[in-house]
Amino acid sequence: MENYKIAVVVGSLRKESFNLKTAKILMALAPESLSLQLVSIAELPIFNEDLEETPPREWVSFREKIRDADGLLFLTPEYNRSIPGVLKNAIDVGSRPYGQSSWDGKPAAVVSVSIGAIGGFGANHHLRQSLFFLNVPTMAQPEAYIGYATGMFDDNGILTNSSTEDFLKDFMVAFGEWVATHAIKQTA
Ligand code: FNR
Repeated sequence: MENYKIAVVVGSLRKESFNLKTAKILMALAPESLSLQLVSIAELPIFNEDLEETPPREWVSFREKIRDADGLLFLTPEYNRSIPGVLKNAIDVGSRPYGQSSWDGKPAAVVSVSIGAIGGFGANHHLRQSLFFLNVPTMAQPEAYIGYATGMFDDNGILTNSSTEDFLKDFMVAFGEWVATHAIKQTA
């Protein structure tokens, strides 16, 4: 069976982030065809095109990790009906230098997790707007807008609700199929 490397990018830097907790659950529920690894965006210097002449090592390392992946799984909180600045920064860093975007062509899925009622719908779709532009084929269905995240986990980060777990498992099965259909064969 083919195995696909998936870079998991979480748009929250909080230790107790619900998005991070959900990412860990998704990683545990993923089908065997997917090998998922968290790729941190916390240390990326703020994008400034002037730095491109001698790019910060954190940018170089991040771009390599994304380039090395066969697919992408994004988890995003919603900040003021959009994505957090730290996630937009990562998107911008990965998209450059011009013509060498690390994101190009990688199949992706987006999950938004919020304490609010509409599950980060605004952030989810703002992120999709950038991914569409960046030629990232992003899974349309099932959608994942996870609301009311407070109380979703126990003290050990275990989901308290089995129907959410069933949904997340089905989501990862669909994502596995999406990746297998759209992954670009990596050359050496
Ligand atoms: C929020 N939050 C929030 N929630 C939401 O559903 N829609 C929104 O527009 C916002 N806006 C917003 C702005 C800022 C600056 C903060 C700090 C928070 C609440 C948000 O859903 C909550 O903090 C989540 O817990 C963030 O995700 P993590 O950090 O738990 O993954």
